[in-house]
Formats: sequence, structure tokens, C-alpha cells
Amino acid sequence: MHPNLQRRVQRYGWDKAASYYENSWQEQLKPAHDLLIETSNVQYGDHIIDLAAGTGLVSFRLLEKAGEKGNLLATDLSDEMINIGNTLSQLAKLENIKFKREDAENIDSVSNSYDLATCALGLMYFPEPENALSEMHRVLKPGGRAVTAVWGSRKNCGWADIFPIVDKRVNTDVCPMFFNLGESEVIKYPFENAGFKDIKIQKIKTTLFYTSSEEACDASFLGGPVAMAYSRFDTETKKAARKEYIRLIEKHKTDRGYEIPGEFVICSGIK
Ligand SMILES: C[S@@+](CC[C@H](N)C(=O)[O-])C[C@H]1O[C@@H](n2cnc3c(N)ncnc32)[C@H](O)[C@@H]1O
Repeated sequence: MHPNLQRRVQRYGWDKAASYYENSWQEQLKPAHDLLIETSNVQYGDHIIDLAAGTGLVSFRLLEKAGEKGNLLATDLSDEMINIGNTLSQLAKLENIKFKREDAENIDSVSNSYDLATCALGLMYFPEPENALSEMHRVLKPGGRAVTAVWGSRKNCGWADIFPIVDKRVNTDVCPMFFNLGESEVIKYPFENAGFKDIKIQKIKTTLFYTSSEEACDASFLGGPVAMAYSRFDTETKKAARKEYIRLIEKHKTDRGYEIPGEFVICSGIK
């Protein structure tokens, strides 16, 4: 897929997913968010940039640690995600956080301006994630930290079939490189190429829990990266895609619902 087309699919797809996002994913992503935040080692007064921030699930938690002297710029490609983030910050009367629509591969900030740059579950969606890492390196102050989280290896993510199920119905790859960065130690190389030192990789296993097949389908089809392709399916195609997904996750059915295995990879480096 051409990089600009991938950006458009992401931008408008996440616009569609935005209103479902927190309900679908906040709990499921918590283990990755917790470890990313712990690894970020936020200091009081830190200046932070959070890329592909979505509705700000990580941004608000990082800002809380940076305190009133800190500030955070949360950027994302999707207007709808940004709108939700801005509404939440206004409701909380926070003046030291700003949400801005921006491509993570092209950051509109001067060099050497942040203590911490984060990107939670975003790199997999960028056409060229190495550009985003180079940008993170550029905007960090010397000694600044970069911390990212991506999904792990395809074989350890029990929901991975969502992509081929959708791709074959639109004859394209919605997220062509989705699992690449989560395999083995692959993510180390774009960190190194961007100029980071002291690179550390941590992997954690997780379980995505859904009470029903409906809930599992809604999270994956409505609240995530395939939302745009799925929204264009007619009723029959939607039904068929859901049926196929349910059949493929059947092996993860327990007496509590669905317990689907997953893996996260947290990578950090110092400028
Ligand atoms: C899974 S969500 C993660 C949101 C948030 N970081 C979190 O962990 O809850 C992925 C986000 O990546 C954003 N995204 C995708 N491609 C992007 C790009 N090229 N630049 C900036 N954001 C992008 C999407 O709009 C979406 O909000």
C-alpha cells in the first residue's frame, strides 16, 4: 500500500473507531500502558511528547506524574481522537496538556525540546516507523528518553486473524507491517538507526478478556485499525467476517467468555 494511502486509511479509520476506543481497549491495553509509564520514569516538571496519543489514555497518566510544572503535547493523526482528548482535558481543567493533529513521522516541534517522548501502540500503524523514531530522537533533549509499546509476535497474539479476515474482503493489506516490530528483537534496529543508546526491550504476555463473542467482535471490528474497511462492508459481508472471526477465536473460549492471548513489547532508549 502506498504510504499516503496507508495514512488516509489510518486517519479516517481511527476517526470511525474513536467513540468505541476506550470501552474496547482501555482495560485490554492496561498492562502495556502500565509498563510503558513505569519505564518512562517521569520526573516532576518533565516536558513530554506523546505520539499517536489517541484519546490520551497514556498522556493523562504521564502528565499526572510530571505534575503542574510539567507539560505534555499529545499528537495523533485522527481528528476524532484529538477532539475526545481536548474535551477530556477541558473537563479536567488541565492547561498543561495540548492535543494536536499531527503525523508522527513529521513532528512540528523544534529539536532538543522534550525530556520524554512516548508512543503507545502506535508505531505498527505508521508506513515508516523508523521516521517516527528519528523524529522522536530529534525533538528530545540530549539525555532524553524514548519509550514505545507495540504488540508482540504474531504467533503470540490470538486475535491476529482479524487482519486476513478483513484484508481478503477488501483485497489489500490494512496494516501490512503490523506484527513486524513485535517479532524477536526487531524493534532494536530502528531505535539504533535513529541514534538511541542504552536500548532496552521488555516483553510481557497478556490476556484479552471478553464476556461474549459479540464483545470480542465489536472491539476488533469497530474499535480498532480495521474500522474503516469494516464500515464499508455490506450487512452480509459484516456477518460473514464476524462469523469467521468467532470461529477462529473459538479455541480461546472458556467458561468465563473469551480469553485471548496477547503479547506486548516495550522498548526504550536514551538520546
Ligand atoms: C491503538 S491507538 C493507540 C492510542 C494511544 N496511544 C493508546 O495507547 O491508547 C493507535 C493510534 O495511532 C494513531 N495513528 C495511526 N497512524 C498515525 C500516524 N501516522 N501518525 C500519528 N498517529 C497515528 C491512530 O489515529 C490511533 O489513535
